[in-house]
Amino acid sequence: MQPMEAEALNEAIAKARAVMLRAHAPHSGFRVGAAVVLSDGAVFAGCNVESASYGLTLCAERSALSAVIAARGSLAADAVRLVVVATEADGPTPPCGACRQWLVEFAPNAEVLAVARDGRSASWSVAELLPDAFTGDQLP
Ligand code: THU
Repeated sequence: MQPMEAEALNEAIAKARAVMLRAHAPHSGFRVGAAVVLSDGAVFAGCNVESASYGLTLCAERSALSAVIAARGSLAADAVRLVVVATEADGPTPPCGACRQWLVEFAPNAEVLAVARDGRSASWSVAELLPDAFTGDQLP
């Protein structure tokens, strides 16, 4: 990824933290916000939405990626530059396995930046998060 301007990066982090506060997390109490930054500068946000069934819970990353698809339809492979994941944890929270699969499919060339409450952060490429991924390319 080309280095992102500090202002755009700070805006994306602020959006991830703001949407985190709207999380529906009555079961875990763990609020997560995600902001997806497109290469044209647009930012789409999503939060985790928990289900009483637990297993039907939607993570913040997939929530935000769904918002992108709803607004823009299918994306070019390089359309997503950055996905910011904000939590209230002390230390950055990496995406779960299901979200890694979605990232491979909808944001394969993005960087993922996890930011913690205490300001600590970690970042990965999507390929680092899920090497040798299954994609639609394997389907007959
Ligand atoms: N969660 C996310 O939103 N993103 C992740 O990548 C990890 C987990 C949410 C799901 C659930 O609502 C809560 O965090 C606890 O697992």
